[in-house]
Order: sequence, then structure tokens, then C-alpha cells
Amino acid sequence: MREVRFGIIGCGLMGREFGSAIARWCHLLDLPFRPLLSGICDANPGLFPWYQNNFPTIKVATKDYRELLRSPDVDAIYCALPHNLHRDVYIEIVRAGKHLLGEKPFGIDLPAAQAIVEEIQKHPKVFVRCSSEFPFWPGAQRVIQAIQQNRFGRIVEVNAGFLHSSDLNPEKPINWKRLVEVNGEYGCLGDLGMHALHVPLRAGWKPKRVFANLTKIVAERPDGKGNKVPCRTWDNGTLACDAVNPFDGHPFPLTFRIFRIAPGETDTWYIEIHGTRYSCRFSTRNPKAFQFMEYSGGAQCWQEESLGYETVHKTITGGIFEFGFSDAILQMWAAFMDELVNGKTPFACARPEEALASHQVFTAALESQRTRQAIEVA
Ligand SMILES: NC(=O)c1ccc[n+]([C@@H]2O[C@H](COP(=O)([O-])OP(=O)(O)OC[C@H]3O[C@@H](n4cnc5c(N)ncnc54)[C@H](O)[C@@H]3O)[C@@H](O)[C@H]2O)c1
Repeated sequence: MREVRFGIIGCGLMGREFGSAIARWCHLLDLPFRPLLSGICDANPGLFPWYQNNFPTIKVATKDYRELLRSPDVDAIYCALPHNLHRDVYIEIVRAGKHLLGEKPFGIDLPAAQAIVEEIQKHPKVFVRCSSEFPFWPGAQRVIQAIQQNRFGRIVEVNAGFLHSSDLNPEKPINWKRLVEVNGEYGCLGDLGMHALHVPLRAGWKPKRVFANLTKIVAERPDGKGNKVPCRTWDNGTLACDAVNPFDGHPFPLTFRIFRIAPGETDTWYIEIHGTRYSCRFSTRNPKAFQFMEYSGGAQCWQEESLGYETVHKTITGGIFEFGFSDAILQMWAAFMDELVNGKTPFACARPEEALASHQVFTAALESQRTRQAIEVA
């Protein structure tokens, strides 16, 4: 059993999800490796007791991430910090020789993402991936299989997106994800966009050109101290893109909807692909339903298969049971470790080049919004 000793930098919402995934590693079957939580770092030490009470393996708990990077007890880092810190901290992690699963968007903007990727290229022995868990849902995996098998015939269109709704409430207090200086000029695109782009980018459908429609809907929010302050980040983005199917060279329209204000949606990830021979769609809104249509000249009938717990990495859960967010995190982490330890895995986590490609799309989207033109993606 190979043990990989992890440090978590950023012990907030996502840090705890990863801690919890370590705690139930026994859920996974037949893996010759396991993570061990040996270090935690956060600027707020008030978060430490939850970790320390649950993980007796922790050797370092610190406010200074460099202490984790110096520690001989840490092999790899999961980093879940606000976006303005990604560039400097990811670069230091890689320079320290620690493997990294870094949260998206992998830098606050394109220059930050480029600097991170350039540093990674200088350290080929360090293994780095970007967090993006939704492709590990069983329905998403069915879509990915159909892409790999080139089942669609001529692709008619592809629509993908990620939809939140809690910002519909104008009384929701502002936080760092709504501040341009911390979250970035991309707004919703940086915060949610990698989720929508991961599968299309893996399919080879990097947009060639993008026309963006970005909207700011709630202009100010409570600051939690009785005042209203400006909320300047983009709330919603619709990106109409030109893409090309690498199997046949034919162009097709690819549309992303990346919304913080999608009334009624909680955390909805979806993808639908329409083709002349085969179409399919999956949304986490209806998480068991995989819908598909085969067409060879007869009736055009969509079918729905109710999926159970069909996972990339085997688990103890019965095949008819339901899959959820924390299961996707566990599967993603298994993929990260599988690739780190074995050099390959059935479906790899988002690669640094894919994170960089998402930045190229978002940067073109910002320019499109400014100029109201369709912009070529670098
Ligand atoms: N994969 C996903 O589904 C998903 C979901 C939400 C957020 N995220 C990403 O995770 C990252 C973190 O988001 P979150 O929702 O966990 O945020 P969060 O605010 O809950 O946690 C961030 C933590 O970083 C700490 N921090 C800030 N500055 C620090 C510093 N200099 N040194 C040490 N700690 C510091 C904060 O105290 C906080 O606890 C972001 O990149 C975000 O985009 C990913």
C-alpha cells in the first residue's frame, strides 16, 4: 500500500470536502494507494479543530503555507485558496517539489495561469492537476464514452453549462467570490467556468472563436456590517463558440451557460450533444437520468436510462444506489492518485494545459463583451 502524505492549504468549504474524502477512503476498493492527511494550513486557525479532531495523522497545522512546503512529512498539496493567491502559492508549491491538486480557475487571470503552467513545465517530476469533479458523475462518464467512441455522426450542436441560483437573493452578503480584486475580472466565468469546459476541452473541442454575453444583474450587496457595497463581478455568462469535431473536421456550434443567477438551480452541471446518428444528455439536476437517442432513419425517440452507482474507481456501494457531490470528489481524488502513482488512469483530472485553455476562452470572452465582437481564441 503506497501512502501519499497530503497537506491542505485553504481549509474552508473545499478543504473540508477533501478532508472528508480522505476520511472515507475505505469506500474505495482494490486501490494500492491511499492518502494520509499530514498537514493543514489556513489564515484562520479557528478552522483547525475540525481537522485535528478527525485526523490524528496531522503533524503540521500552520497559518504559513511555506511551513507545509518545507515539511518532510508532506508529499503533495491540495490547494483551495481564493483566486488572487493561486499564482504565487501554486508556483511555490511546484518549486518546493510537492505534487499539486490545485483548485480552479488555476490563477486569477490568463497571465497568472501562464506563469503557473510555465513553472510546472520546469519541474517534470512534479505531478499537477486542476480540480474539476463533475465529469466523474456516472451520467457524465456515459457522455464521455460516447465522445470517445465517436458515436454522434455529424455533430449538430453541443451545449454545456454550470448553473447556480443563490445569488438571485439580493440580500446575500458579498464575499470574496463577488470581489473583482480577489475573484478576478472573469467573475462567474473564473469561478464556475472550468466545470463547464472540462469535458469539451478533453474532447478536443477547444473553441476557435467566442461571442460572449456577460451580465451583471445584482449591482450591490450587503457587506454584513449594515452597508451596501458595489458588486462588480459578472453574474452570468453565455458563450457562443465555434468548435470543430476532430474526428471529421466539421465545425459545430458549442454554447456554454455559466450562471450564478439561474433561478431555481442549485449546483446544476449539464452537457448535451446532438448528432445526426446519436444524441445524448446528462444533468446533475436529474442525477440518475442518462438520456439518449439513436437514429438510423426510423422513429426519433429519446430514451432514458436510470443510472446507479457506476463509478470509474470501484467502491463498496451497490450498483443500484445513488451518486452525489461528495462521491464525485472521492472519484476525482482517486483519479489524481491513480495517475500520480501509476502514471495512468481511466479518466484523468483536468490537466494544467486544459486549465490554461479555459483561461484563453474566458479572456477572449471578456474582450468579446468589451467590443461586442466575436473574438478568436489564442
Ligand atoms: N471544485 C469545486 O467544486 C469548488 C467549489 C467551490 C470552490 N472551489 C474553489 O476552491 C477554492 C477555494 O474556495 P472555497 O469555496 O473553499 O473558499 P473558502 O473561502 O471557503 O476557503 C478559502 C480558505 O482560504 C483561507 N485563506 C485565505 N487566504 C489565505 C492565506 N494567505 N493563507 C492561508 N489560507 C488562506 C481562508 O481563510 C479560507 O478558509 C477556489 O479556488 C474556488 O474556486 C471549487
